[in-house]
Amino acid sequence: MPEAQYLEAVRKNYSKAGTALIEQLYGDNFLSLSGECSSDNIIRHTNINTDTRLLDIGSGVGGPAIYFAQKTGCTVTGVDIVEWNVDEANKRSRLARVDDKVAFQVGDATSLTFDSGTFDVAISQDAWCHIPEKRRVISEAVRMVKSGGFVAFTDWIELSEMESKYLAEVQTAVAAANFSKPQCYKNWLLEEGCTIISIIDISQHFADRYRTMISNLKLIKSEIVQKYNQNIFSIILEKNELILQAFTDGKIGGTEIVAQKQSYK
Ligand SMILES: C[S@@+](CC[C@H](N)C(=O)[O-])C[C@H]1O[C@@H](n2cnc3c(N)ncnc32)[C@H](O)[C@@H]1O
Repeated sequence: MPEAQYLEAVRKNYSKAGTALIEQLYGDNFLSLSGECSSDNIIRHTNINTDTRLLDIGSGVGGPAIYFAQKTGCTVTGVDIVEWNVDEANKRSRLARVDDKVAFQVGDATSLTFDSGTFDVAISQDAWCHIPEKRRVISEAVRMVKSGGFVAFTDWIELSEMESKYLAEVQTAVAAANFSKPQCYKNWLLEEGCTIISIIDISQHFADRYRTMISNLKLIKSEIVQKYNQNIFSIILEKNELILQAFTDGKIGGTEIVAQKQSYK
């Protein structure tokens, strides 16, 4: 699929209506399955504190960035490719009264415009599955942090081989450009001169949250049918059940990775 089509899929998935539905189903301000649980792990591993300059790559409507700032007092810059997400995130930062510390701007994870070494820590939660050029994202994330800084992220991953038609269906359902594997991320981080601090399989957490999410979807069936129609509800349910099945069958899952940029690079 050409790059423009991936972008179109991302914009459609994270339209105002799309994002509102995801938030309603997930039940928090995060658009990620990894959620606060992974944010807390990242804080623990990277010692984020009031002096930390944090970059959130694929920041959505600001859930993780605002959470990190409120929990640790760090300063956060969030970058997202969807303009509406960025506007909404800045609004939420003001509402949460952290806008002196947390700001969002439009940007592309594969070509970030900040100077190299601007940040202490670069994070991302569940955003990179949408981006075709994951190798470039890793390179950019590592470039963004100073020597000794951290790159810490979660993402949807491929756990075992899928037949190509099925893989395409799952990718479309997730609006994913492709899925990486933990080993690929690990190798790319090593190539970029990082040390791996931790790699955790969070697939069970993803599957559990997805199960809850589908229960929530069924609970708001009449609301969706009223707003759209029965057919749209069936399409949404089918798409999400396909994803849950892929989790249950051990085809896809989640990973949480923390790496540290070596001082010599
Ligand atoms: C699953 S959401 C996660 C948002 C946020 N990390 C969170 O946990 O709430 C993925 C986000 O990645 C953004 N995204 C997709 N492709 C991107 C790119 N190339 N550069 C920056 N952001 C991108 C989407 O617009 C979306 O907001």
